[in-house]
Amino acid sequence: MHGLNGEIKSFRNLEDLSAAAADRIVEIIHEVVSKEGVFSLALSGGSTPKTLYKFLSTTRRDVIPWDRIHIFFGDERYISQDDLQSNFRMARETLLEAVPIPRENVHPIRTNFPDAEKAAVAYEREVREFFPGTENTFTLALLGMGKEGHTASLFPYSPALDETDRWVVPVSTTALPPTRITLTYPPLNSSRNIFFLVAGAGKREALRAAVTPSTDHHLCPSAGIKPSHGDLIWWVDAAAWPSS
Ligand code: 6PG
Repeated sequence: MHGLNGEIKSFRNLEDLSAAAADRIVEIIHEVVSKEGVFSLALSGGSTPKTLYKFLSTTRRDVIPWDRIHIFFGDERYISQDDLQSNFRMARETLLEAVPIPRENVHPIRTNFPDAEKAAVAYEREVREFFPGTENTFTLALLGMGKEGHTASLFPYSPALDETDRWVVPVSTTALPPTRITLTYPPLNSSRNIFFLVAGAGKREALRAAVTPSTDHHLCPSAGIKPSHGDLIWWVDAAAWPSS
């Protein structure tokens, strides 16, 4: 489709969009690893990506060179990694513990600091060390979107939306749990590929706003995801993106 912020790929349901996204991810992994030897993947939290993670850790598990993959996180809730609401815990249970990825290739946002600010500073250091220079960051960043348009933990009207220097910041949100750590626009928009996964009728309005180029990103933070030199693809279901 033309005139939109990114390309939309629409499927019947979450299962189908997750399978198609998994296949495209495997293709990109093969292309990039054969040329560059390493593939960096930023994971999203929430519940939508669970189906994709399951596909990657089961039916696609044996065609992925896991020792070449480095896993990062787009955001984290500032709670224990064992908490049921932890994004790291979700990724561990649906993906990481089922695949032969070396421990040192997994870069969680650690939450065992005295406060969220220190955790954000430490994660920023880790991400910047992995991506020297600021031109290129993740080979692929996966993102989800909330019903009010937030992505990662970039919420409407948050000061984090205007951050141009820091790559990782703590945020205080009205969502639960309220204290979170999030990547900011600069490292996300420097990714080579960005995939949003969006499903369900509850996201319809936010999706329409997010793909409309004139939308104010303070109102709908997902609209601020505009890769500076990469591809943006929206993997959506029919409930979120009705054809008529
Ligand atoms: C988080 C996220 C967040 C998520 C959306 C969608 O930690 O909550 O990373 O940005 O992707 O809230 O969440 P659902 O998939 O659960 O709707």
